[in-house]
Amino acid sequence: MGKLNYQKIEGKFTGKDILSLDQFDATDLLILFKHTAEMKKLAEKSTPSDILKGTLTTLIFYEPSSRTFGSFGAAIKRLGGTTVDIQNPQQFSSVAKGETLEDTIRTFESYSNAIVMRHPQSGAAALAAEAAEHSPIINAGDGVGEHPTQALLDLYTIYEHVGRLDNLTVLMAGDILNGRTVHSLIRGLSLYKNNTVYLLSPKRLKLNAEDLKEFSSRGVKLVEIESEKEIPKDASVWYWTRVQKERFENLEEYEKIKHAFIVTPDLMKKYAAKDMILMHPLPRVGEIETTVDPDPRAVYLRHQMRNGMYVRMALMALVLGRV
Ligand code: NCD
Repeated sequence: MGKLNYQKIEGKFTGKDILSLDQFDATDLLILFKHTAEMKKLAEKSTPSDILKGTLTTLIFYEPSSRTFGSFGAAIKRLGGTTVDIQNPQQFSSVAKGETLEDTIRTFESYSNAIVMRHPQSGAAALAAEAAEHSPIINAGDGVGEHPTQALLDLYTIYEHVGRLDNLTVLMAGDILNGRTVHSLIRGLSLYKNNTVYLLSPKRLKLNAEDLKEFSSRGVKLVEIESEKEIPKDASVWYWTRVQKERFENLEEYEKIKHAFIVTPDLMKKYAAKDMILMHPLPRVGEIETTVDPDPRAVYLRHQMRNGMYVRMALMALVLGRV
């Protein structure tokens, strides 16, 4: 909030904006994951909870979303909290009349204890945090920038299945240039020692030079590859992503490269380790064949998705000072 933007968590979540993965260190993640495991137990037993009773969170999404929007809503409601839901404000609210982001945020913070926002512009979450006087802002994706809660659930899923977050070989594939989930996850993996991330994408969708330099300087080893043949066979995690159509000006170009890399049972057979996990932030639009879904290593529609709700339950309870 205000000057507190990008404030480090340092073990204290209450009242803080959650804008970037860079606010977290390994200890903060451990605290969050401990609470996440508790939330998981609570949700699995369907135990009624009033942890967030009396709180109201505004969910304001300027970009389409069903999963993240639904996941935050479900997380808050499972803990007895309530939400004001606003989707497409550019169409249905005063934003359509030309209201600034700052005014919209000031308005909704006067009703609520926290604001979860998705916006098409990179940096919008930080602007919202500057405008807000008392409500913490949770970034639910800002353009090609970041998607911190997605990275938190991705890291939790890796931790749960692989048992560690260091000494990993990870393959990320698809839209490495525009994928905000990829950007946040690389930031997360760079908090741990000895991680190597292979980045498989068409040339046109490689990390931009600035991000490559910035991420590499954090100690994570990044290896750019352009062919399936270069996939390391010992990767513990494959993180597949869709090519981000909405970031293309020229749709013909999108059509040409949208399916450059597709996961098929055959690709898994050739290159995937026995105990790896296949992840995807979803939605998928053809880049993982549905015939791969029954493979027990495919966790995207099972564990990864539910973990999103558990991590958001834990995060909201921490930010609102209820655990
Ligand atoms: C991702 C996003 O919005 O960045 N989706 C999500 O939040 N689960 C990935 C995507 O849209 O490709």
